[in-house]
Amino acid sequence: MKLAVVGTGHVGLVTCGSMARFGHEVVGTDTDTTKIELLNAGEMPFFEPGLPELIEEGVREGRLSFTDEIETAIKGAAAVFICVGTPPRASGEANLAAVEESSRTAIRHATGPLLIVEKSTVPAGTAHRIKRTVRLERPEIADDVDIVSNPEFLREGKGVEDALNPDRILVGAESDRAFSTMREIYKPLLDRGIPLFETNIPTAEMAKHASNAFLSLKISFANAIARMCERADADVVDVANVMGADERIGRQFLNAGLGYGGSCFSKDLLAFGRLATRLGYDFPILDEIARINDETAVSVIDKVRDALWNMDDKRVAILGLAFKPDTDDIRFAPALTVARGLLDEGANVVGYDPQASANSKAELPDLEIAQDAYSACEGAHCLVLATEWQEFKELDLERIRREMRYPVVIDGRNLFDPVEMSRLGFTYYPTGRPQIPANDS
Ligand code: UDX
Repeated sequence: MKLAVVGTGHVGLVTCGSMARFGHEVVGTDTDTTKIELLNAGEMPFFEPGLPELIEEGVREGRLSFTDEIETAIKGAAAVFICVGTPPRASGEANLAAVEESSRTAIRHATGPLLIVEKSTVPAGTAHRIKRTVRLERPEIADDVDIVSNPEFLREGKGVEDALNPDRILVGAESDRAFSTMREIYKPLLDRGIPLFETNIPTAEMAKHASNAFLSLKISFANAIARMCERADADVVDVANVMGADERIGRQFLNAGLGYGGSCFSKDLLAFGRLATRLGYDFPILDEIARINDETAVSVIDKVRDALWNMDDKRVAILGLAFKPDTDDIRFAPALTVARGLLDEGANVVGYDPQASANSKAELPDLEIAQDAYSACEGAHCLVLATEWQEFKELDLERIRREMRYPVVIDGRNLFDPVEMSRLGFTYYPTGRPQIPANDS
């Protein structure tokens, strides 16, 4: 089947690569010509494990190409996947200008029956607006155009894995014709028994928002428990293990720490809250999730202050700057919130991240960047572990201790073992776990 993908960000490129893998003929397009030039030169606009290989495979096998002309991409396409950004407006509501613009351009250039597939996370009601745009732009083909909501559940850093082996496929549509085309598109996954949920369009849009809100609720719940554990000498990791052993609760997304960042949770939660208000429903839990998440960076900064007393001219190393491991994405990264707070208090802050150092420097020019974890720790009065990259799990902690001026570690992700840290002589601040005094012998 011939497919067009509008938008070549994380969702767009993973969609391009996975659809080509499923055997479709895919053309990706973007208004950002620099991105298209990069892709045509065989390069990636961002870091995502496994994606370069998947894109290269599609291009090599002749099933995937890129163009900056949307009309070329749309020509002859049976479906167009809208994967453009929906950044928050100042009010918190999602800005759907790019969704409208790309749907309108797709409709203008449609050459036959067309499925417009919303992949971007959009508030309930968006499909209805797109349908109206179709009627206004090209009333003569309105009956040949179907709108489908097909939200993605991709995690950054694991996008390829999630697209090729999803937990479920969600399709919201209004006609048998649309459902059957979507079944054909996802046939290779359906043949493997991946569950398919077919719903009406508002249900699909709502399910995506509800899923993200619930996942962020789990994280904030764990962080609220961590704050209590710190006051009660209890251990949040054990609490999460006990809770998670109950199948009704599940262990995933109960890791307390610096909380969630990234473009999805923060933005979607705001947009979901705005949607609730627009629908006339009072849903204050959504605000609480964000409030608890904001406390996490404050808690880490409090610990640095507790350890160092005055921050002026103290040197603080931050390991991990991306909002989570395996990505170079720093949008809403808790590590940068901590860095900003420490800089504001007069500390010298030096950061290191395996992939996100350059993006962080561009965002926060006062942040010093180190070439590796050990040089970040050189002469540091304190180390903050902010993102749990695999390479930090493998650090030579004795060497870290030797590099540091004061052996103080604040673990914003509970990456290290408290007993081991004490044995190595660190003053160690975990998150939501009892502190074990340093063994100074
Ligand atoms: C998320 C959803 O998982 C995905 O389904 C959706 O399509 C997009 O949003 P993503 O933002 O890429 O994906 O990352 P995810 O792995 O979900 O992590 C989000 C944030 O929560 C990260 O900052 C992570 O560090 C944090 N997190 C996650 C915790 O603090 N604790 C946890 O237990 C789990």
